[in-house]
Amino acid sequence: MPIPITRSGAALGAEIDVDLARPLDDATFGEIRDAFHDNIVVCFRGQELTEAQHIAFSRRFGELEVHIVKKYLLPGHPEILLVSNIKNPAGEHIGLADAGFTWHSDVSYRRCPSRCSLLYAKEVPHGPDGVALGDTVFANCIAAYEALPAAMRQRLAGLKAVHRYASRRRVENSPRPKLTAAQIAETPDIARPIVRTHPYTGRKAIYVTAGECVGITLENGEAMPEDEALDLIAELDAHCIKPEFLYRHSWRVGDLLMWDNATAMHLAICDYALPQRRLMHRTTVIGSEPF
Ligand code: SIN
Repeated sequence: MPIPITRSGAALGAEIDVDLARPLDDATFGEIRDAFHDNIVVCFRGQELTEAQHIAFSRRFGELEVHIVKKYLLPGHPEILLVSNIKNPAGEHIGLADAGFTWHSDVSYRRCPSRCSLLYAKEVPHGPDGVALGDTVFANCIAAYEALPAAMRQRLAGLKAVHRYASRRRVENSPRPKLTAAQIAETPDIARPIVRTHPYTGRKAIYVTAGECVGITLENGEAMPEDEALDLIAELDAHCIKPEFLYRHSWRVGDLLMWDNATAMHLAICDYALPQRRLMHRTTVIGSEPF
């Protein structure tokens, strides 16, 4: 029996009805992996996973990244990054409170950026009307690439965008700790093809985010003039987030949602505040060098 998969009806996204707390044989895992590649974002609803089970399932996709902001790693499980607006009794956030507030693809600043991230919903904020808040929106960057005019696809061939972690254009007054000199040295600027080829499916996607890209390198290695580069980055970013390329995920406690960082970018919607609490556990699978 094939695993039950229900597509979202949007440009990306599907639900897969599998209990991840039970052992997964290789054939079932292969179906999940293929559905993940086809749909870019997949959600497993109603999961009851221990931290070890979340980590073990994530590891089937590859080695796990330990996030550079060490303050928010789950004690005893450094592979899990806490994403949360909750504060401890000392008044400090227990997790990254502003994760994903600009469009981005996880860990694009690393030599080997993330293959995929797996976010597990532990607490979800709700409005007075009972509607869930704190949605996450995803953009299908394959569909966005395929919809570009041929002349633009030709223009992009050979161009690389420069990704920078240290000066990500984050929300003002970010509550996260400032990066140390060592952390900045660990995350130098890195140039990546603007048109990225998926390492498993070979499909091409736009790999640029206005929140993290600070310049463009031409095929001959020279820098594109800054104004022109920032305009092109903004144009591509705006193109990718057109409504026809989006899926908006409304969270329920127990959702384990995973997304492909090679073919999607995402944005966390901050439409809630304490006492509305949001707590997510994130694992991040290391991928391969983009080409
Ligand atoms: C992230 O960008 O990893 C966080 C997304 C979210 O909290 O919805």
